Amino acid sequence: MRPLKLEDARHIMGWVNDPVVTKNLQHFSKRFTLKDEKAYVKRMIASRSDFVFSFFDKKTGEYVGQGGIHQIIRENKLGRLAVVVKKDFWGKGYAQYIIPSLVRFAFDKLKLHKVWIMVYSDNKKSLHINSKLGFKKERLLREEYFWRGKYHDMVRMAIIKK
Ligand SMILES: CC(C)(COP(=O)(O)OP(=O)(O)OC[C@H]1O[C@@H](n2cnc3c(N)ncnc32)[C@H](O)[C@@H]1OP(=O)(O)O)[C@@H](O)C(=O)NCCC(=O)NCCS
Repeated sequence: MRPLKLEDARHIMGWVNDPVVTKNLQHFSKRFTLKDEKAYVKRMIASRSDFVFSFFDKKTGEYVGQGGIHQIIRENKLGRLAVVVKKDFWGKGYAQYIIPSLVRFAFDKLKLHKVWIMVYSDNKKSLHINSKLGFKKERLLREEYFWRGKYHDMVRMAIIKK
């Protein structure tokens, strides 16, 4: 786990245009170029309300994915977690390492009190992982996202610092 760097724009290009990966994300409706991703990385590095990390396999050093704490509201000690694992690495337990690492960062370094995550209501894999890692379902948000021509119900889940 290390903070996002400009060179990660190339890594992000390895998944950002893959519809299987972005199916359960939002705002991925266009084809992104390397220039777009460099601009995104610069924006994230400069932002005070986003902290983004790249994750690498400890043994091989291969890039595995991205994760971050976004939409940070310092007054409320609140932030939103996001995670993407590159498709080649799915099902190997990486998300179950990345998510707790980000939660620890949010609680210990950013001093947040609560971290939330938004999940498509039919994304059984994410619902399973987040519940397993201690996130609780807060509410079903009916037709909250409009994406690929239809409205989607979303589940907001959150974990509170104990
Ligand atoms: C969701 C995502 C982060 C998971 O990453 P991952 O590294 O493959 O996840 P892990 O290997 O750590 O865990 C997979 C778990 O999901 C379970 N799982 C897999 N498919 C499932 C399904 N259809 N229903 C329920 N559980 C499922 C596995 O059994 C495993 O749980 P277990 O360890 O208790 O057996 C990854 O698939 C991804 O990046 N998807 C695209 C982006 C995305 O959806 N991000 C999350 C938005 S909320």
